[in-house]
Amino acid sequence: MTSTTTTESAILPIDLAAERAALGPALHEAVIRTLDSGRYVLGPEVEALERDFAKMHGVAQGIGLATGTDALWLGLLALGVKAGDHVVTSPFTFFASAASIALIGAKPVLADVDYDTALIDPKKVEAAIDAKTTAILPVHLYGQLCDMRALKQIADARGLKILEDGAQAHGAKRDGYACGGVGDAGTFSFYVTKNLGAAGEGGMVLTNHDAVAKRLRELRDHGSPTKYVHEHIGTNSRLHALQAAILNVKLPHLEKWNARRRELAARYDKLFAGSKTVVPMKLEKGATHCYHQYAVRVRGSRSRDEVMKLLAEQKIMTAVHYPTPVHVQAAAKPWGYKPGDFPNAERLAREVICLPIHPFLSNADVDRVAARLLDLSKP
Ligand SMILES: Cc1ncc(COP(=O)(O)O)c(C=O)c1O
Repeated sequence: MTSTTTTESAILPIDLAAERAALGPALHEAVIRTLDSGRYVLGPEVEALERDFAKMHGVAQGIGLATGTDALWLGLLALGVKAGDHVVTSPFTFFASAASIALIGAKPVLADVDYDTALIDPKKVEAAIDAKTTAILPVHLYGQLCDMRALKQIADARGLKILEDGAQAHGAKRDGYACGGVGDAGTFSFYVTKNLGAAGEGGMVLTNHDAVAKRLRELRDHGSPTKYVHEHIGTNSRLHALQAAILNVKLPHLEKWNARRRELAARYDKLFAGSKTVVPMKLEKGATHCYHQYAVRVRGSRSRDEVMKLLAEQKIMTAVHYPTPVHVQAAAKPWGYKPGDFPNAERLAREVICLPIHPFLSNADVDRVAARLLDLSKP
């Protein structure tokens, strides 16, 4: 049964209107209060967010920045990564993870992901390390944390730094730790669509290391520990008070929203259990996933793209994160990779579909998405 009735409403990947309705007047009040305060860049709203977001993740300090990309770029600089260094990261991620390394003049050295989790494989990381490697940049893709215990052992044995990319991992944990709790620092994005999203752009680094935090506060302000004193080269990457005020209203809801995402994911898992053509990503033992994305691999007789098109005709909007792995992007040419170098990343890029998942989705929506997808991806 692939037909649909005209009365069915669209199922979207995100529902900002529902989120705003759930928050009531608090968002508007926060925006007006901040406008009236006259403190528009950094200030008390940013400080409150830095404190509460760090606390929620069990990490000592938070440094608010303009974007998640800046959090990666400046995070690497604060850890001492420099031009000519090698930094090991994933070929299956948003391009920013690798680009942040290249922005410094360092080389992104890629290590393939595990096919079942889409997370970087510690054994492949170990094999990719060479004499120029100074850091590892694991990406907590879709909202599940990488095997940080294994990565930390590898890094410690060689004196390497770790910067965790948690742009998709707000509130997620593994073995009791959140992003930034095991590595030297962890980065977050507050882009609109993230589990904790601003009305625009925003980012943060969490770290337990005072010296790293101090360096980042300077780097975001042109290397300036005090006004008009510049001790090193930085940039302007200060989080805006209006964005922080909005995030401060949403933050107390994050745990509950993540819990709802987990409920919906468990429902999808159950509906796809036993299917040979729709295979969810694996949930690791000890992981508290925050399901920024709920991804499945589609292996029926129809191509992934055809399945997505037919779903869209039935008003079910899906996405692919990511259709082209990092190493085959035109911008990655200087790093010297070729198609075939990272087979798991390439296979995932061909097979993955991210299904709608957000806190305001109903159980019936999940049932409808799963039924249609199973129907369209028959062997
Ligand atoms: C894995 C990952 N890393 C980094 C980023 C960059 O964050 P931003 O868009 O805030 O610069 C994103 C954003 O989508 C991401 O998904």
